Amino acid sequence: MTHTRTGWRELIAEVPRDPFIPETIWVDRDAGHPQSGFVALSRQDDPQRWRELLAANEPVITQVDEGRTAVGDTGWSPSSSCSKPSIVADMLDALDVHLGHTVLEIGTGTGWSAALLCRRVGERGRVVSIEVDPVIAEAARAALARAAYSPVVITADGAQGYPDAAPYDRLVATASVREIVPRAWLEQTRPGGLMVTPWGTDYCNGVMLTLHVAANRTATGRFGVDLSFMRLRSHRRRFYEPNKTEIQHAQVTTTDVHGWDFFRMINSDQAAFSIGLKVPHCVLTVELNTVGADHNVLELDDITTRSWARLDANLTSPDKLVVRQLSPRRLWDEAEAAYDWWYDHGKPTLARFGMTVTTDTQTVWLDEPSTIVRAFALTT
Ligand SMILES: C[S@@+](CC[C@H](N)C(=O)[O-])C[C@H]1O[C@@H](n2cnc3c(N)ncnc32)[C@H](O)[C@@H]1O
Repeated sequence: MTHTRTGWRELIAEVPRDPFIPETIWVDRDAGHPQSGFVALSRQDDPQRWRELLAANEPVITQVDEGRTAVGDTGWSPSSSCSKPSIVADMLDALDVHLGHTVLEIGTGTGWSAALLCRRVGERGRVVSIEVDPVIAEAARAALARAAYSPVVITADGAQGYPDAAPYDRLVATASVREIVPRAWLEQTRPGGLMVTPWGTDYCNGVMLTLHVAANRTATGRFGVDLSFMRLRSHRRRFYEPNKTEIQHAQVTTTDVHGWDFFRMINSDQAAFSIGLKVPHCVLTVELNTVGADHNVLELDDITTRSWARLDANLTSPDKLVVRQLSPRRLWDEAEAAYDWWYDHGKPTLARFGMTVTTDTQTVWLDEPSTIVRAFALTT
């Protein structure tokens, strides 16, 4: 890893992940097929592979299905992990933490990033870390104590923050927000402070958001790199899956989208971020090479209206691609219109988008805060 202004990469090299990772981790059941689920890998059974996985610049999955899946069974949904080191470094770079700061972390996980934060704030600083899962929180407390770090680890829903130790100079979330940045985070970060969180929509998983908190309880900032994180538990997406009979009644059309358009529509650092902003409540699911090489399936669904669409993307075929849609919403048509919007606006990169958050409003804008692309209704 290369040297950076804030030196997180050097610190990461000094604070290895190993003491924080449990003896049993979860790995792809079939590395060639990402949808094949996860199986347990124990350090005792395969110490070399365990060490290699920890040494790689990749996330290490430490819990699946919220701990409900037993060792020996297949797990389907990662629910805790130790994040990818280069991503942690990017987020901590953006957080600009200094000696003596008080930092709130949401998503303790293994405790590794809390340890990094403790090293950076030093003895005059304070780190509070919140973990929603009591088993994960207890394991992190034990690992941190063994490694002689002493952040306060709270077992609670991090979306509420932790007012008892507020205000914070810095707030960092290592689980991603779906659309609404919790109001508590804004209220508990001091004016002049910074918040860094992965942020996404139903359509687009996560993009780094850095918010600067001003004196008037307003935070403004820009989006950065594309990052895929697990969601805050209460921000998880819910899916709508029509049955086979319903699908038989779907309207069938074709689309001019093909080739590169398809990949632009599914990549967060290209059009997917804009599509997520312009097409609310629309969950994207993609299965690559499902039917054969370059034969992909893209599905869109909205559980709030029970709408659904599927694109059969056989990219080797010269024919127009076939779309099936179940109303009331025509989700594919909406996504295609949003793709055209992105294209017509000069294919804006993530860095051209920003967000303004107040205790009553939240808007995402393009280039200037006055050019609003999406205003979110705050319900709490
Ligand atoms: C990617 S992991 C965190 C990685 C961690 N920082 C580390 O260094 O190992 C995300 C964690 O967020 C936790 N989480 C999810 N929703 C949460 C919530 N609402 N409040 C607090 N923690 C939450 C998950 O249980 C999981 O352990």
